[in-house]
Amino acid sequence: MEADIKKEVRKFYDSVGWKDIGAGLYQNARYEDLRPVAWEYIHRCHIRVKRHLPASGKYILDAGSGPIQYPEYLEYSKGYKRRICLDISHLALLGARKRIGDHGFFVVGDAANLPFKPQAFDALVSLHTVHHIPADEHRTCFEEFMRVLSRGGQAVVVYSWGSDSQLMKCFRRPIAWGKRITGRLKRMIDSEKSKSALPIKGLSPEAEKLVRTPGTFTFRHDYNWITTNLAFLPGLEVLVWRSVSTAFTKALVHRLSLGKAFLRLIFWLEERAPHFFGRVGQYPMIIFRKMMTEPEATRADIS
Ligand SMILES: C[S@@+](CC[C@H](N)C(=O)[O-])C[C@H]1O[C@@H](n2cnc3c(N)ncnc32)[C@H](O)[C@@H]1O
Repeated sequence: MEADIKKEVRKFYDSVGWKDIGAGLYQNARYEDLRPVAWEYIHRCHIRVKRHLPASGKYILDAGSGPIQYPEYLEYSKGYKRRICLDISHLALLGARKRIGDHGFFVVGDAANLPFKPQAFDALVSLHTVHHIPADEHRTCFEEFMRVLSRGGQAVVVYSWGSDSQLMKCFRRPIAWGKRITGRLKRMIDSEKSKSALPIKGLSPEAEKLVRTPGTFTFRHDYNWITTNLAFLPGLEVLVWRSVSTAFTKALVHRLSLGKAFLRLIFWLEERAPHFFGRVGQYPMIIFRKMMTEPEATRADIS
């Protein structure tokens, strides 16, 4: 069953998710808001990850790296000798190799069963990946991350509360209204643009079809599950990565309604209350570290 899910996820990313759709983008970009009005907010959220990583080291693991699709991702490994990109998708790693060449090592593998020795990495990032792993392997995945982290190392895992996000639940109706109104206005102003799934001109009909292809398996545990089941991780913190979803920004953030200023306000609030927005917002960062004095634990010790 678990093996079937992983096969399905790999097949999806090899045949759809990491397919080039032109303009330097992949099909996966459908999950991001690529409009200029949202750029600054999204950029600042990406850069947040770096704050929680040691500035330099020998090896950093990117578990579920994809093709390192956004430029900000390159920042995370700047102070490191090598970035080890691990992914279940071969196509993802071909893309990652194109981006970082000799700076990287590229390993096809499973984040819940890492093919590395204990304490191999000074730092670890895993962005938007654990939710593609079967539910009963999420804890194993974090155990694996902890196992391969060296003493003094730190890890940042970007996760999602999915439809359980309390904040986004409050905005369900406004998002639906905003989506409807935006769709109508787009059709009135520019009927060509309204047909495209992404704000990019000149996508081929094949690319448009790919962008509209439904996604693959995902499962998200909730905040209580994470804080209870991952309590063994030293220094565990759940902080905000991004409190609003892509559906929220696409529906409610627009240039003409001072959208950029609205997102600046949201970012400002997130900075003031990172734990609160980490708990109620859409995407949390799960942060932990291996203490300098941490004994080397086996999986059995942790369970
Ligand atoms: C949503 S993408 C995120 C990619 C990248 N981290 C990013 O933020 O752009 C999820 C990635 O996780 C990979 N993945 C899914 N299940 C995996 C597993 N069990 N082990 C390793 N990688 C996996 C997929 O192939 C895909 O590249």
